[in-house]
Amino acid sequence: MNSIQVEMSEIIIPIRTKEDEHCYDIRVGSHKLHLSGRWARKCVGRLARKILIISNDKVFGLYGNTVEATLADSGFSVSVWKMRDGERFKNMRSIEAALAAFAASGLSRTDAVIALGGGVVGDLAGFAASIYLRGIAFLQIPTTLLAMIDSSVGGKTGINSDFGKNTIGAFYQPKGVLIDTNCLSTLDTREMAAGFCEAIKQGAIGSRELFDEVSSVLSDFHAERLADHFRDPKYRPRLARMISSQVKFKACIVSGDQRESAVRRDRRSRKILNFGHTLAHALEKVTDYKYFRHGEAVGYGIIYAAELSKELALVDEKVVNLLNDVVHRSGTLPKLDNIDPKLVIEAFRFDKKQVAGSLQMVLLKGIGKPVIVDGDDIPHSAHLSALKRLFAR
Ligand SMILES: NC(=O)c1ccc[n+]([C@@H]2O[C@H](COP(=O)([O-])OP(=O)(O)OC[C@H]3O[C@@H](n4cnc5c(N)ncnc54)[C@H](O)[C@@H]3O)[C@@H](O)[C@H]2O)c1
Ligand SMILES: [Zn+2]
Repeated sequence: MNSIQVEMSEIIIPIRTKEDEHCYDIRVGSHKLHLSGRWARKCVGRLARKILIISNDKVFGLYGNTVEATLADSGFSVSVWKMRDGERFKNMRSIEAALAAFAASGLSRTDAVIALGGGVVGDLAGFAASIYLRGIAFLQIPTTLLAMIDSSVGGKTGINSDFGKNTIGAFYQPKGVLIDTNCLSTLDTREMAAGFCEAIKQGAIGSRELFDEVSSVLSDFHAERLADHFRDPKYRPRLARMISSQVKFKACIVSGDQRESAVRRDRRSRKILNFGHTLAHALEKVTDYKYFRHGEAVGYGIIYAAELSKELALVDEKVVNLLNDVVHRSGTLPKLDNIDPKLVIEAFRFDKKQVAGSLQMVLLKGIGKPVIVDGDDIPHSAHLSALKRLFAR
């Protein structure tokens, strides 16, 4: 990945992957949506005549008309397919409906699909684009904080199935990603907190600098009013810089380990992005995926992983308290009161990050110093005590 270029108020992050020739840019700025037609044309070239927008009612209602009009201005014949809103619709049935919409719109191999929405829309649209006519051009306009800093970066696309979350999918790189930070001004506080927890996660494993950047945004801005700050021109450049640092970090990790090698376990392997996710997946599972936003569960997962790192004498209490404080600054997380810790421990066994039957956990030796530890090297008593401390906080 090359260095960041600053072009007026826009930050351009070039993505160059090692394992193939694919390269594209991730562009970050505010009020970019009305220019998305020109951007799309540049990304997909002259041959594309048709473009189909995948979105949902909520996001399309907010931003769809702007995107549709600018795409038409740039010479595309535009069609729209809206999926139902929610994680539970990220499934095979929606894929079939999406593919039918592609065919009904007459999309050919040189045409394109554009995802306008959060991670659910992006994951589904990318997977549908990867299999339609063996792959057609795909563009992303992520509209949640989580989608901007995480799901739209790295080329993982997919859906959920009866046998688990994200179990069907493909690595499929987009032709471009356009981040308009202004879209965050309509995001509700829980979605914002969820996105910030993923940003804290990336800071915790990335570097002291990345962590301090998120942490200082969360100290200076009021969590409940973050959406207003994204609307305010005074704050927008700082928030855009934070998003760009996050994108740059994730892009750097995934371009060095595109397909998440099973054997790698160094501090820059893609696996480190699972920091905080073992407990998060367990919390989501025991609450039937209905109680937490994924990022909120990651917030607790970060504190848990920090507690476990302390149990193993990898970090001291100060690091645990720091992570706890910053996570709680992102917003009010749903309470853990009604959750049975025993069920949570039980659910660890199902975590898909099990390699050859053994759970691998990402822990910390300090901020920006992740370490991958074999489950067998973590005594059950350490898990119990970390969980007890988390629930007692
Ligand atoms: N591909 C990857 O690498 C990757 C990484 C992390 C997460 N994910 C996936 O991302 C998904 C979660 O994404 P998410 O957190 O964006 O959830 P989401 O897509 O469900 O969006 C959350 C909610 O916000 C609404 N919304 C979106 N943009 C909005 C806006 N600008 N204003 C107002 N409301 C808006 C959506 O309609 C939805 O109701 C999960 O399915 C997860 O598996 C994928
Ligand atoms: Zn996550």
